Amino acid sequence: MKKKVIYSLCVLFILFQFLPINRTNPSVEADLIANEKVKSILKRSCYDCHSNETRYPLYSYTFPASIFLAHHVEEGREELNFSNWEILSESKKATKAGDIIEELEKKEMPLFSYTLVHRDAILSSEEIEIIKNWAKAIQKKYESSE
Ligand code: HEC
Repeated sequence: MKKKVIYSLCVLFILFQFLPINRTNPSVEADLIANEKVKSILKRSCYDCHSNETRYPLYSYTFPASIFLAHHVEEGREELNFSNWEILSESKKATKAGDIIEELEKKEMPLFSYTLVHRDAILSSEEIEIIKNWAKAIQKKYESSE
């Protein structure tokens, strides 16, 4: 009996490897324009989930990582997609900039689980300051245009 259960679980596990998972990258319509420093930090630490330029690592092809990753990318793009940044209104950009500052201050982004595998995505306090200053400038620009 026990053997049968284990056997079934193994078969299921193998079948799960073939789950159709969306690993596509939609086209980049209006990628963020920012100075090189800011851009390279965001690319390194955020773009895998917040752009249409996701680099899908090998482990993304194995269950259960495949499910988590696809879910993070889908949700991440929904919240914030740097590939569409330049079509956002100034007010929307300012709101997103505020969200970015908040997430960085709370140390919620990049997602902890992601940094376990992607050690290079962890930001130094200096890099966090660079991104925060960039985001604050966007907020200021909007406030002064009102
Ligand atoms: C592994 C994927 C992943 C990475 C890498 C990542 N994020 Fe996210 N991000 C998510 C997901 C999933 C959500 C939506 C769920 C949530 O808020 O936790 C999100 C939400 C957000 C939000 C919206 C939060 C809100 O609710 O207002 C902001 C802003 C954000 N991320 C900024 C960043 C920044 C900046 C980086 C890089 C420093 C980053 N993220 C890296 C997955 C990721």
